Amino acid sequence: MKKSEEIPEEDDDETIVTKDSLEKSPGGFTLLDLPGVGAATAEKLNNAGFRNLMSVAVATPGELMELTGLTELAAKKAINYARDKLQMSFETADEVLKKREKIERIKTPSEELNTLLGGGFETCAITEAYGEFGSGKTQLANVLAVYVQKINPEYSVVYIDTESTFRPERIAQIAKAAGMDPDKVLKNIRVARAYNSDHQMILAEKVEELIEKNNLKLKLIIVDSLTAHFRAEFIGRGTLADRQQKLNKHMHTLMRIADKYNLVVFVTNQVMARPDMFFGDPTQAIGGHIVAHASTYRLYLRKGKKGSRVAKLVDSPDLPEGEAVFYIDENGIRDK
Ligand code: GTP
Ligand code: MG
Repeated sequence: MKKSEEIPEEDDDETIVTKDSLEKSPGGFTLLDLPGVGAATAEKLNNAGFRNLMSVAVATPGELMELTGLTELAAKKAINYARDKLQMSFETADEVLKKREKIERIKTPSEELNTLLGGGFETCAITEAYGEFGSGKTQLANVLAVYVQKINPEYSVVYIDTESTFRPERIAQIAKAAGMDPDKVLKNIRVARAYNSDHQMILAEKVEELIEKNNLKLKLIIVDSLTAHFRAEFIGRGTLADRQQKLNKHMHTLMRIADKYNLVVFVTNQVMARPDMFFGDPTQAIGGHIVAHASTYRLYLRKGKKGSRVAKLVDSPDLPEGEAVFYIDENGIRDK
C-alpha cells in the first residue's frame, strides 16, 4: 500500500470551494490555509457550518474527525493552527456587559414564564421549546409573533412553518386580545412554508438577504418545527451523522443571524419516547446533542394539572433551573 497522499481525492463533482468562496477570518485566513485541509475537506467543514478559523479553533478533534475523515493527529494539527492564527482576543468584562445591554426581551402575558427566562425571550439567543403534541409549542410561537410587536410596532417576524400549522386567524385573535390592530400585526409577519429540510435550511439562509433588501427591523425568527423534516427524512443509523451535520449547519445559520441582527430565534422540537428509560421522564428531545448545544435556552413543555402547561428551563447559561406554570386560552397564554 502506498502512502495515503497518493490516494486520489474523492470527486463528487459538487461545486468545490475556493479561497474566494470561503469566509475570511481576521488576517484573511480561510479553511484552505489549515494544514492537511484541501478543497474537499474544506467543503465538508464549510457545509457542516464550520466556516471559519474560529469554528475550527473551538471544535474538538472528534468532531472534525467525524465530519471530515481526518486522522486524530491531522485534526489536532488543524485545530492548533487555527488557534495560533487567530488573535484570540480578550474583551474586558465591561465591554461584554455593554454588548449585553443591547439585548432586548419579548415579554409574554405570562409573568411566570417571563421570570423563568430572566425577563422574557432574549435576543442574540436561540430558545428551543420541546415537548409532546399539544404541549403548547405552536401557541407560544404565535404569542411571541404578536408580543414582539409590543416592544416596537415596527418590529417584524419571519415564521418558517414546516408542518402547515400556521394560522393567521389565531394570530389575529391574540393580537386583538392584546389591544393591537390585527391587520398591522399580520402585515409584520412573513410566513414561509418549508417543504423539506433542504428548503428549510435555504429559507433560513435567505433571511439575511430579506433583512438587508427590505431594511426590515426583524426581531424574531420562528422555526416550527425545527426537527420534523429532518426526523422524517433521515431514518436509520447510517443517515444519522448526515442529519446531525445538516442540523448543526442550520442551527449555526440561525445563531449567526440572531447575533448579527440582535434578534430572537424561537424553535420548536418534538420528543421521542425512550424505551430504555425506566426512571424519570421517558421522553427525549429530537436532535440530540447538536440541538441541545446550539440552543441557548431550552424549555421543556408538558401538560400539567387542570389544563395548565408547565415550562421547565433546562440547561441555561445564566439562569437557575426552574418551572413556570401557564395556561393557553383564546387570548393566547396567561398566568393562573
Ligand atoms: P404539536 O405541534 O402537535 O407537537 O403540538 P404543539 O406543542 O405545537 O401544540 P399547540 O401549541 O398547537 O397546542 C395545542 C393546544 O393549545 C390545544 O390542545 C389546545 O388545548 C390549546 N389551544 C389552542 N388554541 C386555543 C384556544 O383558542 N383556546 C384554548 N382554551 N386553548 C387553545
Ligand atoms: Mg405545533
